[in-house]
Amino acid sequence: MVNKVTKIGVLTSGGDAPGMNAAIRAVVRTGIYHGLEVYGILRGYQGMIDDDIIKMETRSVANIIQRGGTILKTARCKDFFEYEGRQRAYDNLRARDINGLIVIGGDGSFRGAVKFSQEFDIPCIGLAGTIDKDIYGTDFTIGFDTAVNTAVEAIDKVRDTMDAHDRIFIIEVMGRDAGYIALHSGIATGAENILIPERKTDINDMIASLQEKERRKKLVNLIVVAEGDEFGGANEVHKILKEKMPHAEIRVCILGHIQRGGSPSCLDRLIASRMGFHAVESLIEGRHNVFVGIMNNKMHYIPLENAVKNKVKISEEWLRIVKILAS
Ligand code: F6P
Repeated sequence: MVNKVTKIGVLTSGGDAPGMNAAIRAVVRTGIYHGLEVYGILRGYQGMIDDDIIKMETRSVANIIQRGGTILKTARCKDFFEYEGRQRAYDNLRARDINGLIVIGGDGSFRGAVKFSQEFDIPCIGLAGTIDKDIYGTDFTIGFDTAVNTAVEAIDKVRDTMDAHDRIFIIEVMGRDAGYIALHSGIATGAENILIPERKTDINDMIASLQEKERRKKLVNLIVVAEGDEFGGANEVHKILKEKMPHAEIRVCILGHIQRGGSPSCLDRLIASRMGFHAVESLIEGRHNVFVGIMNNKMHYIPLENAVKNKVKISEEWLRIVKILAS
């Protein structure tokens, strides 16, 4: 039996994602609206272990909805992998009578929440906050839309200079093991090739088509590569191409952490607000150890365990679109 929730903690963990602040704001304001005390835990699980916990008021989250990063800071916390770390974290929550926890982060953060909630009697609710869009059970993750738009804007700019010089460009985007950022940004920028971990690339075919362009002296070609692709990212793809096409002008551009920063898009602000609101209400309703997802525009509460066990797939439809529009 889960006790009535009266005091809740909220933290952001793992890689930051634009929209995390909007989610914190929604959690704090919804919590206070319902008469709960809300505590911000700094630097993710690390702050829970170090007792770096502050009381949040309505005004603590004023003027943050438009800001990237996270006002609570974030970390990838090794100590939380150890039982002793989790025990210390639990003791710190208990000392303040915090009896509900909201974790905003990606699948690594959810793994931590699953372990924590199995060992200690504290209900945890997850909010999918990651630019990678690699969480099973939700159509949206907080940060993806902004990141992919940042990538599109940057790739459009690269295309201008690529065209001017008749060059091949290999652009690497983030996503860890997931190819969503590459897939969406590649399609949206009309990339000639998109390399993602979810789909095998026929590299010989790609080289043959580039060599053909080279013969026709039309060697302008945009290749978007997910950092987790089968070859190991843009630099590795560059090596392969350079060996087969030593005279071609090939440049590599790794977009990197700019994809994680910046003001969140309207969509990210909205889904973060919606998810944050429902996370608090679901804790009050007695839900525990689930994450708040949105599917077909409806809220879904998916056991955190399922989210970490299942891998997100890219639909056959998208794979066909990539095959036909950019292989
Ligand atoms: O999970 C978000 C993400 O940005 C991945 O796309 C990327 O692989 C990773 O984090 C980079 O992590 P860090 O900032 O710790 O280098």
